[in-house]
Amino acid sequence: MAGLSKTIVLLPGDGIGPEVIAAATAVLADCATEFHHRFTLREFPVGGAALDRAGAPLPPETLAACREADAILLGAVGGPRWDGLPLGRRPESGLLALRQELGLYINLRPIRLREALAGISPLKGALNKRIDLEIVRELAGGIYFGEHRTERSNGLERAFDVEAYSSAEIERVARFALARAAARRQRLASVDKANVLATSALWRKTVERLAAAHPEVAVSHLYVDNAAMQLILAPEQFDVILTSNLFGDILSDAGAALVGSIGLIPSMSCGDGPPLFEPIHGSAPLLAGQDRACPLGAILSAGLMLREAFGLRQEADWVETAVDRVLARGYRTADLAEPGSVVVGGSEFVARLREELRESLKQLEPYGWGV
Ligand code: IPM
Ligand code: MG
Repeated sequence: MAGLSKTIVLLPGDGIGPEVIAAATAVLADCATEFHHRFTLREFPVGGAALDRAGAPLPPETLAACREADAILLGAVGGPRWDGLPLGRRPESGLLALRQELGLYINLRPIRLREALAGISPLKGALNKRIDLEIVRELAGGIYFGEHRTERSNGLERAFDVEAYSSAEIERVARFALARAAARRQRLASVDKANVLATSALWRKTVERLAAAHPEVAVSHLYVDNAAMQLILAPEQFDVILTSNLFGDILSDAGAALVGSIGLIPSMSCGDGPPLFEPIHGSAPLLAGQDRACPLGAILSAGLMLREAFGLRQEADWVETAVDRVLARGYRTADLAEPGSVVVGGSEFVARLREELRESLKQLEPYGWGV
């Protein structure tokens, strides 16, 4: 196959964002070299870094570059430096504005227990369970984007956050989740709070209606409190989980903990505009600049980009397999360590990974893996 030519916008952001994006960029560069692709990388500020440099968490140049990209890779936003700012002006609002401006209403978060990491799962007997699920989180609506307001009357402060969903907003993300489940193990769990919330009642009704078009997918509905419990008690029952913006934010951190570390989990946001890939971890200001952060969430996000945005399955498998081999050999950043591990900094982990990437190509080239 002739190599692809793609423009990737890098948004390192804050805290550990720049380190993990540098790690993922190195892997993308190796991929381009080895498989003869051309990835043009363009870097722009977002979040706190953009507030400091350009006075806004999503400067117009950053947004314009993102609109023209084939894909976007983001590190993390936020940090104590900007915690005093009002809600709409914080670094996080840059990320939220980006998601909304680009119409990225779908967020996919794969949660899979990697064999080499079964020992660090907090779940008893994790080794015997198959944890391999995808959370499909609605990303451009719900309570994140409803009115946020604080008012004062009679000496009391009251705050409001409005959750609103239209059936069209539910439909577009539900269709994606149903198709995803159809292509996997044909099970979809839709998570809501339909016993209390009107938005959830509409959510459930809409998902039920669409499910009729997918008789091959077994659709179930769970209340979010029960879903949180089930995720911990029996995560192997889940294939695809579909849920709202807020519930998806919460459940995906819980899912990440089950498979060892939030540092591991990649994500893809897609919809109308260019897809955005980002680790689900935050900016971890306490780790920033110390070479201690786990680069895997960002590296696996780059892998997800190769697979989902560019259709480069072989390249994505190459990255995933090398990650598993390095972990199996015991190399771990501190968050993934267990007795017997060789604890290394992020940059040494990346060096080992790149060695493994090269080695695996040398071994597999004669069998037609390479190009
Ligand atoms: C996430 C993050 C963001 C979110 C924050 C940084 C706004 O927690 O991507 O899960 O809540 O969506
Ligand atoms: Mg979150």
